[in-house]
Amino acid sequence: MTAEKNIVPHGHIISMHDRRELLAQNSKIIWFTGLSGSGKSTIAGRVEEMLNERGFLTYLLDGDNIRTGLNKNLGFNDEDRNENIRRIGEVSKLFIDAGVIVLTAFISPFKADRQLVRDLVAKGDFIEIFINCPLEICELRDPKGLYKKARAGEIKDFTGISSPFEIPHRAEIEIRSDQMGVEQAAEKIVKLIKPKIELD
Ligand code: ADX
Repeated sequence: MTAEKNIVPHGHIISMHDRRELLAQNSKIIWFTGLSGSGKSTIAGRVEEMLNERGFLTYLLDGDNIRTGLNKNLGFNDEDRNENIRRIGEVSKLFIDAGVIVLTAFISPFKADRQLVRDLVAKGDFIEIFINCPLEICELRDPKGLYKKARAGEIKDFTGISSPFEIPHRAEIEIRSDQMGVEQAAEKIVKLIKPKIELD
């Protein structure tokens, strides 16, 4: 499939370490996972704002946005979701190398895909945040009207309805987004990740 055997990576002079020093921050992947409607994008957006206010350089990759560009050729069957997350993992790895703190908001329903991204980067550089919200509540919220369509059979392979969500058991942070508001959730996350993104 690829011509990997004829590829020789070039060692560049300026390293991730140099860029982290320049930006005075430790780049990490802050990986939000959870059902559609759980609040991933909203909470990730608020966390990003708070980090920016504190002087950190961040970039937010969001499922619905990336799927209109880089990943617009992908759908929602298992194979396409694998590829969606694999690409986001590789892009996130580049951001880490660039010294930037990358926040990602993708359902990322499969354990193996999340593990694949975790294994792409150095230990401790992948921080998984499970935005845990019961399906009934997500379905009640239904901000985009997609659960209604999925129940009506108008959308196939819909996460939580006709496609599985594999619960993370080793997430660094878990947020019950049905039990706390966006502000409180974002504050909790920032408090926990700040020591990890500050340069030692
Ligand atoms: S993932 O499973 O591959 O990680 P991703 O986060 O990129 O999903 O995209 C999810 C978003 O796509 C949802 O928030 C929703 O707006 C939309 N969407 C459209 N079809 C589906 C579907 N079948 N299952 C889940 N989300 C869908």
